[in-house]
Amino acid sequence: MKPHLCTHFNSKLIYGSGGDNTEYCSVNTPIYQTSTFAQPCVGELGKYEYTRSENPTRAALEQLSATLEGGTAGFAFSTGMAAIMAVLSIFSAGDEILSSASIYGGTYRILRDVFPRFGLKTTLLDTANLDTLEASFTPQVKAVYIETPSNPLMQITDIAAVAQIAKRHGAVLIVDNTFLTPYLQQPIPLGADIVLHSATKYLCGHSDILAGLVVTNDDDLAARVKFVQNATGGVLPPMDAYWLIRSIKTLAVRMDRHVENAEKCVALLREQSAVKALYYPGLDGTQGADIHNRQAKNGGAMLSFELADGDAAKLFVDKLQMIDLAVSLGGTESLICHPWSMTHASVPAEDKIAMGITQGLIRFSVGIEDFEDIRNDLLLGLA
Ligand SMILES: Cc1ncc(COP(=O)(O)O)c(C=O)c1O
Repeated sequence: MKPHLCTHFNSKLIYGSGGDNTEYCSVNTPIYQTSTFAQPCVGELGKYEYTRSENPTRAALEQLSATLEGGTAGFAFSTGMAAIMAVLSIFSAGDEILSSASIYGGTYRILRDVFPRFGLKTTLLDTANLDTLEASFTPQVKAVYIETPSNPLMQITDIAAVAQIAKRHGAVLIVDNTFLTPYLQQPIPLGADIVLHSATKYLCGHSDILAGLVVTNDDDLAARVKFVQNATGGVLPPMDAYWLIRSIKTLAVRMDRHVENAEKCVALLREQSAVKALYYPGLDGTQGADIHNRQAKNGGAMLSFELADGDAAKLFVDKLQMIDLAVSLGGTESLICHPWSMTHASVPAEDKIAMGITQGLIRFSVGIEDFEDIRNDLLLGLA
């Protein structure tokens, strides 16, 4: 087989797995649907032993994720939360994490309700404010955790600046890059140590599998994540690893269309009097716009907007005739979500209000349908 030498991003989406397809020269990565591997003899182990530890199909996906994020090692998990769980599990009782207060509700839940029971403390803060961040370090802080843009308010944190601060304090920077994917933003070249994804979203792109990915460029961190992955076992099954490799091949063409539609939605929503506030990364006059436009290719295809109140949000959703109400994002279909009662339902009301999440907030994952149909549905909802 050809070595598939290539240097550009879109080609790497197709060839970057470096999977071992040589036996029958299959153009696609073979699916090794096996839990275990026969070993040559007692005392001598083959390349693969047991699928929880390593599997060739998963290894191809892990290599692909590292290649795309500019890291040196990748790890695939059964969900985004399993990936986040594994990353947080590399720390120990007594360690502290500084985290963006504006983060996905599920991440907030494990930082607040799971890890403190094992002695890992988290302080939530506004990571966009570098002075607050700098002042929050204690000798126990071992990591800074950010989402940029954040879910659901699209808050922007300066990745390169936070990476420098974290390094100065001997802490690692962890970035959840779910909303933009490595096609639109690459935190590792900007200084992040660990990048993670809910690959359930754009990387999968078709709302049909759950998956999580972790990438790092640091050998010590890679060894610690690898240890937790094998020890705790939340790995991605071979069949799902195959589906994800398949989906990632079309990431760039899908994202281009998602973004084209999203930019048109932003222009439309800006003109609607019912829309009290609009959150789209990099939008003129919004928080962190310059920083976002420096560190990402464009604003992506997630946006949020504020209607008058909870009743208005309910009415809007009820009137839609094409776009479904559902959690999750990044699939070909447009999806509307009500963060207050859905993605952030587990966050106490007072914390949601402190985060800026109101009952009138709508989050919109813009799909790749014809824009005219999206526009007609939005206008129907807003009428
Ligand atoms: C930004 C972000 N990170 C992590 C997750 C968790 O991923 P999963 O649902 O694949 O466990 C989500 C899920 O919506 C998310 O939006």
